[in-house]
Amino acid sequence: MGIKIAPSILSANFAKLGREVEEVSNAGADYIHIDVMDGSFVPNITIGPCVVSAIRRYSALPFDVHLMISSPGDHIENFVNAGADIITVHAEAEIHLERLIRKIKSYKNVNNAKETVKAGVSIVPSTHPSVLEYILHELDIVLIMSVNPGFGGQNFIRSQLDKISIVKKMIQERNLNTQISVDGGVNLSNAAEIIKAGADILVAGSAIFGTGDVKKAMDDFLLIK
Ligand code: DX5
Ligand code: ZN
Repeated sequence: MGIKIAPSILSANFAKLGREVEEVSNAGADYIHIDVMDGSFVPNITIGPCVVSAIRRYSALPFDVHLMISSPGDHIENFVNAGADIITVHAEAEIHLERLIRKIKSYKNVNNAKETVKAGVSIVPSTHPSVLEYILHELDIVLIMSVNPGFGGQNFIRSQLDKISIVKKMIQERNLNTQISVDGGVNLSNAAEIIKAGADILVAGSAIFGTGDVKKAMDDFLLIK
């Protein structure tokens, strides 16, 4: 499987979000990465299910919803109904993570009745990957945060390259299909080493929406796939 590109709409122009989602979808994105922040788990507040629902009609791509919120279990159903295809929760935000993963996967995908919602778990830079040991086989995606979550436009934390390789090894040893998504500070200069470390999905916000030319940025990203 080739590398997938997941533009993060956190760096898009929120005043014309539908258009931005449409543009990046037409430019060859594989997923639309949606950063949900609650001002509690992370300092910033972004968007909720009603915005996800509003932009749903602007793209047929899978919506990859990254929940940076406390008590994520209380909000799964609302994001499913808003059109999420993948829901990623933080290991640091949930004690009963195994149960929450099962809960996410128990929902039908509202965009495609034949599928269930896919589940991801994310870990922040300070979290050891051993937290994945007993849940990895249940996961569609592991999202490795390469910045401290909360804001776009931060620098990639290089210690996370090691973590990507460790998680890749865990997946290979278990013969799983779990995909590794890397989120934070990803750009055209560091993409190659992130892929080499084991990433399957690159999330990029400012390197795509912050450039002023989404089409050109996507063309450049597609070249490294
Ligand atoms: C950070 C978010 C990321 C972020 C990526 O909390 O989860 O998705 O928007 O943005 P860049 O690519 O600008 O680091
Ligand atoms: Zn994200």
